[in-house]
Amino acid sequence: MFTKKTYQQRRVKLSRQVKSGLLLFLSNGESPMNYPANTYHYRQDSSFLYFFGLNFPGLAAVIDIEEGRQTVFGNDIDMEDIIWMGPQPSLKSRCAKVGISDTRPLPELAGVLQAAVRQGRRIHFLPPYRSDNALWLERLLGIRAAAIKDYASAEFARAVIAQRSLKSPEEVREIETALAVSAVMYREAMAMAQPGIYEREVAGFMEGIALTGGGQLAFPAIVTVHGETLHNHFHGNRLQEGDLLLIDSGAETEGGYASDITRTIPVGGRFDPMQRAVYETVLDMQLTAIAMIRPGTSYRSVHLKASEVLVEHLKHIGLMKGNAADAVAAGAHALFFPHGLGHMMGLDVHDMEDLGETWVGYDDKFKRSQQFGLAYLRMAKKLEPGQVLTVEPGIYFIPALIDQWRSEKKHAAFIHYDKVEKFRAFGGIRIEDDVLVTPKGCRVLGPAIPKAAAEVEAAVRSPLAGDL
Ligand code: GLY
Ligand code: MN
Ligand code: MN
Repeated sequence: MFTKKTYQQRRVKLSRQVKSGLLLFLSNGESPMNYPANTYHYRQDSSFLYFFGLNFPGLAAVIDIEEGRQTVFGNDIDMEDIIWMGPQPSLKSRCAKVGISDTRPLPELAGVLQAAVRQGRRIHFLPPYRSDNALWLERLLGIRAAAIKDYASAEFARAVIAQRSLKSPEEVREIETALAVSAVMYREAMAMAQPGIYEREVAGFMEGIALTGGGQLAFPAIVTVHGETLHNHFHGNRLQEGDLLLIDSGAETEGGYASDITRTIPVGGRFDPMQRAVYETVLDMQLTAIAMIRPGTSYRSVHLKASEVLVEHLKHIGLMKGNAADAVAAGAHALFFPHGLGHMMGLDVHDMEDLGETWVGYDDKFKRSQQFGLAYLRMAKKLEPGQVLTVEPGIYFIPALIDQWRSEKKHAAFIHYDKVEKFRAFGGIRIEDDVLVTPKGCRVLGPAIPKAAAEVEAAVRSPLAGDL
């Protein structure tokens, strides 16, 4: 949690940007797993956390812009809550810590909103992504939950995006705190990447480190020898010598900030020559991309340059042919790299995706492409100091996609399908770091995590390995 001044300044800035009306914020509720009292780990809504810093359920907040009033609505706990949850500070004292003096019981919220509606005032709310909050808005505003997103305030969402996109030094420190936890997670994971170990053992150990760090995982970890399946959450495979173990994971700080790191690790500690060639390709894509990051450069151009680096290397390996720029313009590289180079990161791993992915990563000058691969690029627009982005190129051999493209002779002018066949069982490689755009360039955040092929091999063969 930051000082009250941080939250006060954020709210003032937001009010100035939206200019008029009421800004309505809803906290996230508890989310049941299989019956009401058995809930998932509580996660507050990130915009609520950003502007109010209150990390518990059962709250709403209203900023009345014209009247300059900021109110938090919530209920103080009763004896039953004390019995089950222990004593809690009063709502008033918790709100005082974030610069809010006006607190009211939750049932008063509806009346405040109805009065505003009667006066013909605009009530701005953000698009809900949880159905319980869509239903709550339905009850409060009389708009059908199914249609509620159409009535969400673009002005409000865009003002939040503008502010949350540029990280303050204290936010960057939070992200680096999460990255320090990630560094420990990867050091241990690399040492564990030995034949005979199950993916779930590595996943469990890493999750334990995230908990030990004071937070939890920022998202369900990918720990897989089948990295070619992009969102592979299966952890049941046993590692074998020569497998590539792809781990995409992040820690979350107590304050809710995330890290998002991927490393691909040779089980047993040696890349074979084919693996090394593809690994060096992905690393060159990533390092070339990082070297390009500076204010004024569009992230789309960085994505496209990284894709050209892919083509140049794959030509050398014998998998592609032709002019690299032409291959990328046609979208041929997407057989191997079907996702975007990265996304903004902060309180959310895909920062502010709930507010509108296109508003976060695109603007009037950068329209989203419909082309396969490029369409998944979440961040395209020009970079600005203060943005935190992931840089996460990858190369994957997805048998079903290879078969489909091959049967269609898709981009046959750029792809040596016969040679690609030899890589069918290769899997996938991705390397991901988190980068801050600085006034003159960028800085890779957090402690160094082994990344060069030889460093990763050495980490697998480190003395730690024998202890596990
Ligand atoms: N961990 C999700 C991502 O890398 O985008
Ligand atoms: Mn990731
Ligand atoms: Mn990512």
